[in-house]
Amino acid sequence: MFDNKTEAQAREEILNMVTEYCDTYHNKKKTFEPGDYIPYASRVYDHKEMSNLVDAALEFWLTSGKYTAEFEKRFAEYLGVKYCSLVNSGSSANLLAFMALTSPLLGERQVRPKDEMITVAAGFPTTITPAVQYGVIPVFIDVTIPQYNLDVSQLEAALSERTKVVMAAHTLGNPFDLHMVKQFCDKHNLWLVEDNCDALGTTYQIDGQEYFTGTVGDIGTSSFYPPHHMTMGEGGAVYTNHPLLHKCIQSFRDWGRDCACKPGQDNLCGHRFDKQYGELPLGYDHKYVYSHFGYNLKATDMQAAIGCAQIEKMPEFVEKRRHNFYRLLEGLKECEDKLVLPVPCENSSPSWFGFLVTCKEGVSRNKVITYLESHGIQTRMLFAGNLIKHPCFDQMRASGEGYRVNGSLENTDRIMRDSFWVGLYPGMTDEMIDYMAKIMKEAVYQ
Ligand SMILES: Cc1ncc(COP(=O)(O)O)c(C=O)c1O
Repeated sequence: MFDNKTEAQAREEILNMVTEYCDTYHNKKKTFEPGDYIPYASRVYDHKEMSNLVDAALEFWLTSGKYTAEFEKRFAEYLGVKYCSLVNSGSSANLLAFMALTSPLLGERQVRPKDEMITVAAGFPTTITPAVQYGVIPVFIDVTIPQYNLDVSQLEAALSERTKVVMAAHTLGNPFDLHMVKQFCDKHNLWLVEDNCDALGTTYQIDGQEYFTGTVGDIGTSSFYPPHHMTMGEGGAVYTNHPLLHKCIQSFRDWGRDCACKPGQDNLCGHRFDKQYGELPLGYDHKYVYSHFGYNLKATDMQAAIGCAQIEKMPEFVEKRRHNFYRLLEGLKECEDKLVLPVPCENSSPSWFGFLVTCKEGVSRNKVITYLESHGIQTRMLFAGNLIKHPCFDQMRASGEGYRVNGSLENTDRIMRDSFWVGLYPGMTDEMIDYMAKIMKEAVYQ
């Protein structure tokens, strides 16, 4: 089949076939019929993602390589940040963001076991897992409804002399009050880590200047697991404008090593064999010098190749999510006596991940979601609801040690009891959104 062809010609032929395969067998347009299944999220892609993936496979570099370098550059450009590190999941991104703050290279600002981190319990567990595992005390404050984000009026009361970090997610795309939280962190010399896994593309204005969420604090994180704003199957990213934090992130990601050479690269710094490190012999190979107790959390070039095609679609994905949000909001306006509808944070333009509602008194969430699910509409909880109530907290709850709660978590508990969300992903059509609104109305008035 490849007789008399160069490798480049053979590759082109394969990629053309992949394009045709994708166009023929994937993403076939089907008109929506009421009752058809409406998932809360789905991958949205075309032949570009698939041919990039196959191209990376034919290259067979496998580990992070040229697509990774391209993705990190383009993702940083998209967000307007200096540094981006691709990793294998959003949870790994959170792990790295947190662990970077424990580096001895940060001097007095190094986060140490028994220090405290202000956060919320109404969210996804892996925002706080790294702190718990490292022995840092999460201090939980309540959230506001209908923003479902940390209540900034609680921040000062939650502060102690051991507080070093604020780390929280922008819930389902709606950002927390970044201006207030940033001011609080600056005032008390705290690190701010934005878990941006559910909010890629959200923008926020401070003093007339627009920023992407994830780029206002010291470090931001993203997830590229399929339901998220863009995907590469599994994947994540950590981003920052601080050169030293970037160095720590990369070191923890790449086995804890001191050297910044990429896979396959040697002697980038030009001092591979002539420096003194720790108590090692003079000139010990820099490639094998470890400045941290790190991990290996790199992604593969196949994942990055998919990401390179997805990042180009981000502006249209974000626009579609906003369109879907406002269409569903409009469709549900008349249910305001039954449901608390979502409200965007002031000064923000959310890139919504989902449409989160809270059932008002007299409306049973279980009855509503059972009705929706039985009509083909997939529903989701706000992840853990109240994370402290989960089995992973059993030992800490029993001993009363390892975490702190500031004030009451009344709204967090209400969310656990009464809230749920449905999807807004860019593959949804107006017909699907209108059907969801109709069924949701039926569900709350049944
Ligand atoms: C807010 C938040 N943070 C972190 C994660 C973890 O991302 P991943 O599934 O890529 O590990 C998720 C997962 O969906 C999330 O919703």
